[in-house]
Amino acid sequence: MNWENILLEKEDAIAVVTINRPKALNALNAATLSELDQVFTGLAADGTVSVVILTGAGEKAFVAGADIAFMQNLTALEAREFALLGQAVLNKIENLPQPVIAAVNGFALGGGCELAMACDIRLASETSRFGQPEVGLGVPPGFAGTQRLPRLVGKGCAKELLYSAEMIDAQEAYRIGLVNRVCPAADLLGTARTLARKIASRGQVAVRLTKSAVNQGLEMDVARAIAYEAEVFGLAFSTGDQREGMTAFLEKRPPDFKGK
Ligand code: CAA
Repeated sequence: MNWENILLEKEDAIAVVTINRPKALNALNAATLSELDQVFTGLAADGTVSVVILTGAGEKAFVAGADIAFMQNLTALEAREFALLGQAVLNKIENLPQPVIAAVNGFALGGGCELAMACDIRLASETSRFGQPEVGLGVPPGFAGTQRLPRLVGKGCAKELLYSAEMIDAQEAYRIGLVNRVCPAADLLGTARTLARKIASRGQVAVRLTKSAVNQGLEMDVARAIAYEAEVFGLAFSTGDQREGMTAFLEKRPPDFKGK
């Protein structure tokens, strides 16, 4: 299927989703969000895909935010609907069964920073810039930046970014824990693919159960969260991957996981 604003490539169990509106620095309008929703709905059901990489087209931007021209004349109710659409798409990405790696190749501002934060892992090019500029436009963030940012970097750093609307560079984003790694722009996709291949080589049921244990568990109190972990640990023992992984270790050979 072809989308107007998204490119999708699949190779060796890895899907690369590229937001493709470089003239608008890949800004997110409703049409792009709807396409992202369709793409990720398809990936969730695609048993051939183990890991997803999300990036932006062009050399300048990952995503420069929600589309300001699109938002300028929205009514209050339309703006609320737009925020709910963005939040639903980002929730879908956060809760995709497979891990999602954001390869942040430039500006990740407003909705773009919020999109990167919905991914499991963020790799940043040295040229990337992060920020939540919304209050400079007279609005608060609308795609859950007020919630994901403090959970990632702590309340103090988050409030400084949210209230000041200042941009930070990749090294500062790394220092505060907003990104996992910084690499030269030319190596970004290669680094993301190497990490994706490593994850794809592991037991896929276990990777998915682990993602669920982290994501669901962080929404629970610790006692319920570790009880949930015990449930998913037990569930893994109903899989061939558990038998293969442990047998391969004891037989001193690499495992041949089937994802079942
Ligand atoms: N929405 C719509 N168009 C955008 C855009 C956005 N968020 N960001 C950039 N563009 C467009 C520009 O209007 C420009 O279009 P034209 O060529 O047609 O004039 C084109 O992309 C290139 O941008 P610039 O000329 O501005 O490029 P620059 O290098 O001078 O600056 C930038 C780059 C600092 C990223 C600057 O474009 C910028 O500040 N963009 C807006 C960032 C922003 O405020 N994002 C938050 C949006 S609000 C939001 O996201 C709300 C939410 O939480 C849901």
